[in-house]
Amino acid sequence: MEDIIKLINTKEGIHTLHHTALMESYHSIHGSLQESMHVFIENGLLASTSITKSENRELKILEMGFGTGLNALLSYRENLKLNRFIHFTTVEAFPLPLNIIYRLNYFDFLEKPLQPVFLKMHECHWFETIDITPLALPANQANDQASEQRGKFFLFKIQADMLELKLEDNYDLVYYDAFSPAHQPELWTFEVLKKIYDACNEDASLVTYCAKGEVKRTLQKVGFKVETLKGPNGKREMIKAVKY
Ligand SMILES: C[S@@+](CC[C@H](N)C(=O)[O-])C[C@H]1O[C@@H](n2cnc3c(N)ncnc32)[C@H](O)[C@@H]1O
Repeated sequence: MEDIIKLINTKEGIHTLHHTALMESYHSIHGSLQESMHVFIENGLLASTSITKSENRELKILEMGFGTGLNALLSYRENLKLNRFIHFTTVEAFPLPLNIIYRLNYFDFLEKPLQPVFLKMHECHWFETIDITPLALPANQANDQASEQRGKFFLFKIQADMLELKLEDNYDLVYYDAFSPAHQPELWTFEVLKKIYDACNEDASLVTYCAKGEVKRTLQKVGFKVETLKGPNGKREMIKAVKY
């Protein structure tokens, strides 16, 4: 694994990884941070209908492709302000070796106190729900059951091939962060996207950096209502798909 994965600088200066066998990078070379923030946080987490609907309910996020853990960390960081109860499930077939993770320069660009959280996300066991709720929760919480749930962040990492995986939960939001259809077409088929649709709650949304016409058509066939949004820097468009 280590000889096929190379650290590269994106145009923001922040790293991403390049998979030399697939000839594909883990993020946009225009900037991993701006891409993840734009696609998954701003158009996913912050725009999710489920997040505005019920403030006290657990918000279940499913990520396809844990990779470097950047989306998970940015979701955790955003929740320090949102103060919701997030249950973040992520699927990864090929976990990255820790010695690659330790070399990422993410904390030259992100708040340093987040670094131990990031390491915990990588060092924790697969198939175990871990509670990474910040120790100091906001002080204005009332002492009732609903507010006890707020500000929580649970991470559940599934080491599995998405093609084989049976999804057992109901999700409110999906970060679809597979490698591109050009390199991994098997992850963008009707069967896989239908499996995800079936595991979503009503009103759930799926966001992806990909904006291919073929992917939009497949998502529509599956049953999603598809919107084309402005893409992150360096990309004209991205997709948001909503389950009705
Ligand atoms: C674009 S990267 C994800 C980047 C990641 N979300 C991040 O924030 O760094 C795609 C990920 O999908 C994983 N992957 C590839 N094929 C897979 C499969 N069949 N099932 C699950 N994960 C897979 C890759 O190992 C890679 O980590």
